[in-house]
Parts: sequence; C-alpha cells; structure tokens
Amino acid sequence: MISSAPQQLAPITIITGGSEGIGKALALEFAQGGFDLLLVARSQQRLEKTAHEISATHDINVLTLKCDLAEEDSGGKITSFLKHKNYYCQYLVNNAGFGLAGDFAKHDEATIRNLVDLNVRALTDLSRQFLPDMLERGDGGILNIASMGGLLPGPYQAAYYASKAYVISLTKALSWESWGTGVQISALAPGPVKTKFHARMGARSELYVKSGAGISAAKAARMGYSGFMCGKCLIIPGILSQLGAVALKIIPHDLLMPFMAWFLKARIQHNPKSGDRF
Ligand SMILES: NC(=O)c1ccc[n+]([C@@H]2O[C@H](COP(=O)([O-])OP(=O)(O)OC[C@H]3O[C@@H](n4cnc5c(N)ncnc54)[C@H](OP(=O)(O)O)[C@@H]3O)[C@@H](O)[C@H]2O)c1
Repeated sequence: MISSAPQQLAPITIITGGSEGIGKALALEFAQGGFDLLLVARSQQRLEKTAHEISATHDINVLTLKCDLAEEDSGGKITSFLKHKNYYCQYLVNNAGFGLAGDFAKHDEATIRNLVDLNVRALTDLSRQFLPDMLERGDGGILNIASMGGLLPGPYQAAYYASKAYVISLTKALSWESWGTGVQISALAPGPVKTKFHARMGARSELYVKSGAGISAAKAARMGYSGFMCGKCLIIPGILSQLGAVALKIIPHDLLMPFMAWFLKARIQHNPKSGDRF
C-alpha cells in the first residue's frame, strides 16, 4: 500500500558533487523545476558560491553539506542533516565521481580504493538508503551519473570505466525492480563533457582530450534532467554519443579495444603519483 509523504517533512533533491561541473548544471535544472536542493561536496567555499548563485535566480531553498562521500559514514551524515532540517529525500542525484588516467598498475592502491569508494560504494549506499522510502511513498527517484565509458572496457582508464559499468548495470537492474512503483531510476551516460574532470584525473595529452570533443555541462544536464523526468532508463546526451552507443551494440568490444587504447593512452609519459607529466 502506498503511503503519503512523511508528515511535516518537506521534499528535497540531493545532488552529490553539486558544486560544479555537471552536478552544478543539474542543480540548475532541478532549481528551474522548482525543487529545493541539498548540494553535497567537500569544498564548503565552492558549495556556498554555487548555492548563492542558484538561490539568487530561483525561488527555492538551497542547502549545502560539506561531506567527503568516499568516507564510510557519509550516508549517515546526510540522513542526520536532512532530519535536522526537516526534509526527506524525494530525488537523489548520484553525480560525484572522479577518474584516473594512466596504467592501472602504476596508480597507488589507496587512490584506486578511493575511486571505488566514491564512484561505486557511496552511490550504492545512498541508493540503498533512500530507495525504500521512495518505494513506500510511490514517488521520487534516483538519477545516477554514469558515463559512455561504462559501455565498454577502457584501457588506461581501467578502474574508472569499470566503475561506470557497475553504475549502468545497477541502474538498469533497479529500474526493472522499481517498474510500476512510481519511482524513476535512470542513468545519464555522457561522452566527454567540458569540465575540470579530465585535468583533475591527469588526462591532458590523450587524443580524446586533445581533440577538444565534448558537449557542455549545461547540455548534458538539460538532456539528463528531461530524460529522467520523462522516464528514460539510460540517457545518452548528444547525437554523436548516441550513434557511438548504437555502434557499441553492434561491434564486438574485443575489436574496439585497440582503438580505445589508442584513444585513451597518454601521449606524454605520466607519473600518476605526482599527478603531473614529465
Ligand atoms: N566530464 C566528463 O567528461 C564526464 C563524462 C561522463 C561522466 N562524467 C561523470 O559526471 C560526474 C561529474 O563529473 P564532472 O565532470 O562534473 O566533474 P567535476 O567538474 O570534477 O566535479 C566533480 C564534483 O564532485 C565533487 N566531489 C568530488 N569528489 C568528492 C567526494 N569525495 N565527496 C563529495 N563530493 C566530491 C566535487 O566537489 P569537491 O571537489 O569540492 O568535493 C565537484 O562538485 C562524475 O561522476 C563523472 O564520472 C563526467
């Protein structure tokens, strides 16, 4: 039986990594839709700047929470914060994530573990934490930010591509399990998007970066938001990426591996420990 929203609690949309890049652009889309927001990231300064920008132009409440989602108790921290502020999670946008460029064997173990903790564990924990209440209410949903990289293996970005494959697989399965409940579960899987993400992961001389290919964060978010609200399970923004996704269904991935390796391999030797090239 479907129960009504919790009494005296107001609905809110949680956007992890909502302070910049695609997360900020998604926050603007949800703000446009009139939803109150909770933005979660590590830098309080950037969170406040973004919250100020959004609330100056939209008639909604924007809350911020400084939280490192790679830490194990991050889900509990978000729940306590929501309770304290009298909100419940209507929509969850699992956007925070980072990549790692270079040879898997050369990255230190702690950095790889950190990637799995953020891209996989935090996303899974938050989904498990908020989905049962959404199902009980028969309302709301989860938008996971995956990547086209999750559609095939990615040599020289191995752990990142694998983490996004998990996100796509989890999303499709949860979408199936939630079918007909009123709860929407979607994954946004963009190709390259022009944000600081690539420089942060140490990708600078790779062909895909040098080609300058990519769409804006605003376009990725606009298509992600509308696809989610329209009930699409897997949203691939941009015509080129959509064609690429069709090709990935037809061409055996083993044949594509040399091309992916060529596309993703750094042209300048990279020392992953220093985070710089030499
Ligand atoms: N850019 C692309 O080409 C692209 C393509 C496909 C998919 N994606 C995916 O889209 C998502 C967003 O990417 P983006 O390009 O917008 O990246 P971005 O510009 O680097 O922004 C990342 C956001 O996540 C936050 N964040 C990072 N680590 C965090 C942590 N441990 N705890 C909490 N917040 C954290 C950052 O804030 P703080 O640093 O202050 O914590 C920032 O708000 C990622 O999941 C990425 O994998 C990106």
